[in-house]
Amino acid sequence: MGAPARQQLLEYVPLASVWTGEDAELLEKLLSFYPRKRPQRILDATVNGGRFWRGSKRPVIGMDIEPAHRPAVVGDNTKMPFRAVFFDVVIYDPPHIPNQGRDKTKDFNTRFGLGLRSPKEKGYTFAHTYPPFVEEAYRVLKPEGILLCKITDYIHDHRYQWAHVDFVQAASAVGFRPCDCIIKIRKGPIIDPKWKVAHHTRRQHCYWLVFRKSEKCE
Ligand SMILES: C[S@@+](CC[C@H](N)C(=O)[O-])C[C@H]1O[C@@H](n2cnc3c(N)ncnc32)[C@H](O)[C@@H]1O
Repeated sequence: MGAPARQQLLEYVPLASVWTGEDAELLEKLLSFYPRKRPQRILDATVNGGRFWRGSKRPVIGMDIEPAHRPAVVGDNTKMPFRAVFFDVVIYDPPHIPNQGRDKTKDFNTRFGLGLRSPKEKGYTFAHTYPPFVEEAYRVLKPEGILLCKITDYIHDHRYQWAHVDFVQAASAVGFRPCDCIIKIRKGPIIDPKWKVAHHTRRQHCYWLVFRKSEKCE
């Protein structure tokens, strides 16, 4: 074994495909694991309250469409106010579970942008927002840049909504290479109190998907 390979082996920290901890801790691991060089410019395209960056010293630009969250950039991630080939990493944690109604016991709506609605002609899902986002993410990323997406499947309109499949398809269609998938397990499922009896399993996990703007993953 040559000296560079030996050095690489000494520095190597494996990453498991199942995660039970906090997002911020996982994200730090992902940012150390996937980029080929230490990322200089990171965009969080759905920053909300910035929970992903608690305790982080990473140079992050936080963007959100909702000014009330006081992001560094108020903007729409389907029409990003950035030049092409600018970022090393883009992070995306889109709203999920559309049309939650007005249950005042849930502050999820304001905290996580879950109060957004999706019309009938869009199938009551947010899948239609993925293609314009991934097109922009691809444009602003440098070659070999990384897109990290936290995404949750859910039951809506009496159907299983395959959000992670929709997202992989949308990202692949604009040229991203889908490279990895980490399953994040929650302590318990998010349950809408309205549904006492569910005919699907209660969702207790989500995915962190890893894409590269490249022909190859490794
Ligand atoms: C699930 S939350 C993100 C939570 C965040 N990762 C955290 O842990 O604090 C989704 C966020 O996306 C924002 N959002 C929704 N549509 C957007 C768009 N088109 N452009 C930018 N931000 C958007 C919402 O305002 C909301 O704050």
